[in-house]
Formats: sequence, C-alpha cells, structure tokens
Amino acid sequence: MSPNPMKRFLLPLILLSATLFMAAKLTTQLDPPGSASDWSEYLGGPDRNHYSTLTQIDTTNVSQLKMAWEYHTLDSGQIQCNPIIKSGVLYGMTATTQPFAVNAATGEQLWTRKDTTTVRASARSGSTSRGVTYWEKGTDKRILFTNGAWLYAIEAATGKPVNSFGDQGRTSLKAGLGPTAKDKSVISNTPGTVYGDLIIMPMRLSEGADAALGHIQAFNIQTGKLAWVFHTIPQPGEFGYDTWPKDTYKNTDVGAANNWSGMAVDRQRGIVYVPTGSAAFDFYGGNRQGQNLFANCLLALDAKTGKRLWHFQLVHHDILDRDAPAPPNLITVTHNGKRVDAVAQVSKQGYVFLFDRVTGKPLFPIKETPMPASDIEGEKAWPTQPIPTKPAPYARNILTEVDISPLAENRAELQATLRKSRYQGAFTPLSKGGTIIYPGLDGGAEYGGAAVDPDGIMYVNSNEMAWLISLNKKMSSDQLAQLSPGQRVYTTTCAQCHGAERKGNPASGFPSLVDINKRRNRAFVNNIVSNGKGMMPAFTSLSAKQKQSLLAFLFGDESQEPGMNHDAEPGLSKAEQAKTKVPYQISGYSKFLDKNGYPAVPTPWGTLNAINLNTGEYVWKTVLGNYPELKTKEPTGSESYGGPVITAGGVLFIAGTKDGLFKAYSRKTGKLLWQTKLPAAAFATPSTYEVNGKQYVVLACGGTKLGAAKGDSYVAFALP
Ligand code: HEC
Repeated sequence: MSPNPMKRFLLPLILLSATLFMAAKLTTQLDPPGSASDWSEYLGGPDRNHYSTLTQIDTTNVSQLKMAWEYHTLDSGQIQCNPIIKSGVLYGMTATTQPFAVNAATGEQLWTRKDTTTVRASARSGSTSRGVTYWEKGTDKRILFTNGAWLYAIEAATGKPVNSFGDQGRTSLKAGLGPTAKDKSVISNTPGTVYGDLIIMPMRLSEGADAALGHIQAFNIQTGKLAWVFHTIPQPGEFGYDTWPKDTYKNTDVGAANNWSGMAVDRQRGIVYVPTGSAAFDFYGGNRQGQNLFANCLLALDAKTGKRLWHFQLVHHDILDRDAPAPPNLITVTHNGKRVDAVAQVSKQGYVFLFDRVTGKPLFPIKETPMPASDIEGEKAWPTQPIPTKPAPYARNILTEVDISPLAENRAELQATLRKSRYQGAFTPLSKGGTIIYPGLDGGAEYGGAAVDPDGIMYVNSNEMAWLISLNKKMSSDQLAQLSPGQRVYTTTCAQCHGAERKGNPASGFPSLVDINKRRNRAFVNNIVSNGKGMMPAFTSLSAKQKQSLLAFLFGDESQEPGMNHDAEPGLSKAEQAKTKVPYQISGYSKFLDKNGYPAVPTPWGTLNAINLNTGEYVWKTVLGNYPELKTKEPTGSESYGGPVITAGGVLFIAGTKDGLFKAYSRKTGKLLWQTKLPAAAFATPSTYEVNGKQYVVLACGGTKLGAAKGDSYVAFALP
C-alpha cells in the first residue's frame, strides 16, 4: 500500500477527532446554560465547579481590586450563601434566611422578603441558607428558596409569591417523606438542583434517633407537586433493603441518610449526582447493624424519574458522622490516554473519590482497607472502608504524642490526653474513654466544596483539626423519669450540643447555657428553640408544655412554675421515647484544643490544595488562614468554611477564615497575589460575574462562626 491513501484517510480522521474533541470541550464549557457573564446557579453551574470563563480580572491586575459596593441585609449573623447573578441582578439570602435581590452593578436593593407580604410570615426559620435557585421558562422567571419545612416560589422580578405553585406559593418538604415526618424537624440549607421543570431538594434533618427519613425528593417547579421520591433507606423489595435490620424504613428509631450538601446534574445525560450523609443517630449504629445503603453514598439517579443508575458507598455503616460534605464536581479528565467524563467527590476524611460519570467505575483503584473494631457494647463497626489509592489525602490523619502542637502551652497535658484516648486513624470508632476524630467532624472538606478547572485540576481547602469525643451510656427511661420535666427535655433534646452540665463548648461553636437568665430573656430562648438559629435546628416536636418546663429549668425557677412538679408529667413523650431506644450519647461536639483554644494538632491548621485529577498528583499545596496573635514566623493556617472560586483569568479567590481576609491566588502556582480585610469574616463561597463589561467578585460577610464578629453584608469588588 502506498502511503498516500493512508494519509488521505488519516488526515480527515485527525480533523474529525479534533472537532469532536473541541465540541466536547465546548459543551462542557457552555453547560451551565446562559451567558458566561452570569453566575446563574449555585457554585457557578450544574457541574458545581466554581469556575468562570471571565478574564477581565487576571493575575496581573488582581492586586488593584477595590470594593465596588456593599449591601447591608439589616439582619446579621452567619451567612453561608453563594449568591447567584442573572442578567445584572444578584439574588441572595440574609442571615435569617430571607431572600433579596439587588442590582449587581451597584448593590442597590430591588426587593426583599419584607416587601413580599403575602408570603406567610409564620414560616420563619432562623437557620442558615447557602442560597437560592433560579428557574425560567419563557417569560416566567422564578426564584426558589426554603424556609422552615417549606419550599417557596417567588417571581424573580418582584419577590412576590407565585400563587399557582403549591399552596399559595409554597410546598412542603415533607410531602414525600411519609407519616413519620409529621412532627419531625425537616429543613433545607442548600439550594435545590434544577432539571427541566423539576427541582431536586437537599434536606437537613435531626442527627438523633428522632430523625425523619432522608428520601431524595423532586418537585415540579410549575405546580409545586411532588414528582418523584428515592428511598435512601430502602423499603421491602428494594435494592439495599437487606443492608439494614428489618423494618428500619418504618423510622421508629433510625432515620436520615439524607443529602444535605447539595447535588450536581449532567443535563445532557439526565443524571443527577447525589451525595448522602450518615444514618441517624450519627454515632451509634447498634440498632442499624449492616452496611446501611444508601447512607454515605454517591448516588447517580435518573433525574427524570429518580431511578438509581449506580451508587458507590463512601463509608460503610458510618458511626463517625462522615457525611459527604459538599456537592460532587462533574469534570472531564484524561485517564489511560482517553478523555473520560467523570464525577469527583470530596470527603471529610480527606479523600477525593473519582468515578466514570456513566458507569460509576473508579478511575483510580479504591481499596477496601481493614479498620479497627468498636469496643462499645452492641456496636459492630464495619471491618473495612474504601480508601482511594490516589490522590493522597489532602488532610492529615496521623497523630502521635510527638506531633502535639509545640505552640500549645499545656503540651504535656494534651499528650497525656492523647495517650489515654483512642486513635487508630481516620476510622477509629468512638469509645467510652474518648476517641480522637482526625480529620475532624468538619473535615477535611466542608460545605464549601471544591473547584475544578477545565484542565481537570481540583482546588480544595481543607481543615486540619482533631475532635475529642466519648460515647457514653445514656440515662435509662427509668432514670430519666426521675428528672424534673424540664431537665428531662434538656437531657434528651439539648445536652448533645450544650453538654450535660450546660457548659456548651464555645470554642467549637456551641454556647454555654449556664446563667442564660443573665444574658437572655425567656422570649429569646423560646424563639430560638422554636425557630432555630445558625447551625442550631428548630425543635418543632416539643409541646408548649415541654417548652414551658424547659424554660423553667434553664431559668432556674422550676419550683415556682405553677402546676409543674415531678409528678405532673412522669411519662416520656413519643420523641423522648424514640431517643431512649439508642442507649448511647456523645459527650458533646468538642474539638481537641489546647488551653488557649488553639488546635492540639501541629500546624498548618488549614490548607489550600491543587490536585491534578488526570494524574492524581498534587500541583501545589499552601497554608490557608492564620492566627496573627500567635506571631509565628509562618502563618499557622486555620479552619475555613466556604470554598474557592476560580476563573479563566488564572485567579483563585477564597475567604472562609476567621481572620476575615479575602485572598486571590495564582491558580497555576498557588502564589498569593492580593488580600484585603472584609467588613466581617466570610464563611461562604464567592461568586464572580460581569455587568456592563465590568467583572465583579462578590461574597457574603456574616461572621459569627468560630467566634468571629458578626456581619450583615454582601461585598463586591471590581477593578477601578
Ligand atoms: C445540634 C446542636 C444543638 C442542639 C441539639 C441544641 N442547640 Fe442550642 N445552639 C446550638 C448552636 C450551634 C448555637 C449557636 C447559634 C448561633 O448563634 O448561630 C446555639 C444557641 C443556643 C442559644 C443561644 C445562646 C446565646 O447565648 O445566645 C440558646 C438559648 C440555645 N441554643 C438553647 C438550646 C436549647 C434549650 C436546646 C434544646 C431544646 C438546644 N439549644 C439544642 C446548637 C444546638
């Protein structure tokens, strides 16, 4: 054969594959639909890649950024919102989960929830929100958001309710959860994911035995009607039913396995990727022996029907609250010389799990690795856990006495604590004498999640923090019945976070309730219990009588409470009974800290990582955050909440740290290019967009978390 015909054959082939390759690239870049100047979906698009194609702000001029506007929301407190920007309008949420719209070029207010008088004021929840969802069909443009147990639809232009949606503009997030959800706490902190006319909803539930079922639900955006339900705790006959004790789905003392952190959707293929959290109660699984599918899974569901396509369980029989903490990233990588559409999931344990998006096959082998057994009576920890061979974890998981932070004043004491606690790596079960959880309960990765660029480089900020928790026998129902009614409610409902002695754990974000009567009045406490606040859930199942008793207990005037004595209410309520079925409780949510409140583990206490997902190798790793008062030569690093944003201009923006700094790095090298002090720390992911030819980067500064000063504003930056 002469070479000529071969050439004739090859050249068109090369051209064809090049066009196909470019077409493939183009579709990934055009997806999110809409203009590149918008940030029209949560975390930048349905792929949740925190990526913008904008280039006006780049590595050479980012240092000239100036504040363009600041919008005060008028209610202050933790804001985790990643705002969306559509056609020059920014839509966000305030600290008390009220939606608002402002002009994205000026920060001038267009409407707030206060203007939308017909949305029932009664449905107030004080929880935190990560944002809203935008949807349009022709001229019908809507904003969807949640408040309490409700999903609301309002007109994007005015904030007025869409009355044809559900019941006068709202629909219940409990619609598909079955009768057991009726008196249980159901809210949603993360925006839903749109597929056609459907919105698929995350939920936040109790982490105790009184948790509702964590079904995945899709609602019709036009009507508000429930469209499909996927059971994460399977019913008889469904796949995975036999990975739980019989009848677990009846939800008497086990629930959750919910998605709270959000989802990603491949609209071309019609697949929604849903990462789930642990079953509840989070820390003891003696009453839910088995592998517990589909808790702690990455689920690939048919977005139209909710039918399971594939799943991968990231943690088997989770007893350490190792929820998948962020939405997955939909990316394209090169593996074994082939382009593969993939899905990547970050974790609290510090691993990135990478799969073929269609088949669910791991792209780097994942090894079932033997793990230590539990020494708690009745608990059977799963003997192995899946560990990816690549990439290496972005968070450390080895802690020995020599490692204890040299900065700690009481180092010897911390070494002694470590010696008497249990620690055998990232999957050490809780024990009576105390277990170190490292990486901690807030990761590794947290709700901010990871950014990924079109080259397949992932950028993820990581917490390096150990927690110290013990698992203790609970009071029996007989013992509980001996307590005063108020103390009983406190013990079963509040003690897990505020401590048996009400001292809380301020350094871990749980305030002390000792002497609450000196700081707050009854109306304040009653309101916080009924409506929640920040990361404290609302306790909707408490009766008026129980609340009255609880307040009397907290304010130290139980004896003066008319008609309230030990005999008045000797039995336990249904919710209390469910909780007593689980014989153990944790000592509290507490970090392993030195006597000055700094991490007991060695620095760096927070990092920012760039990982090449084509090769599984690190491109760079840098320290993120600092405690300036410690006056160390190198920054100490600190925890961060809220993820990065990356741009085609080569810049990575991130805040998230208590020091209140907003930083820009070179995406390629990890070099710090610019930083500025925010009006309050921003525990939220920024958004970037363009209006009238000008690029902005905006973020919510609510402070509050980690003991940072409170804030109430959204701040936008642009080039002068
Ligand atoms: C899941 C953990 C959790 C549980 C359970 C919980 N809380 Fe809280 N609580 C918190 C957190 C976190 C905060 C701080 C909220 C903020 O300001 O953002 C808080 C704040 C409070 C405050 C405000 C304290 C102050 O000084 O302003 C009160 C009062 C309170 N909780 C009472 C209760 C009572 C009573 C119960 C039981 C019915 C309870 N909490 C159950 C986590 C919890």
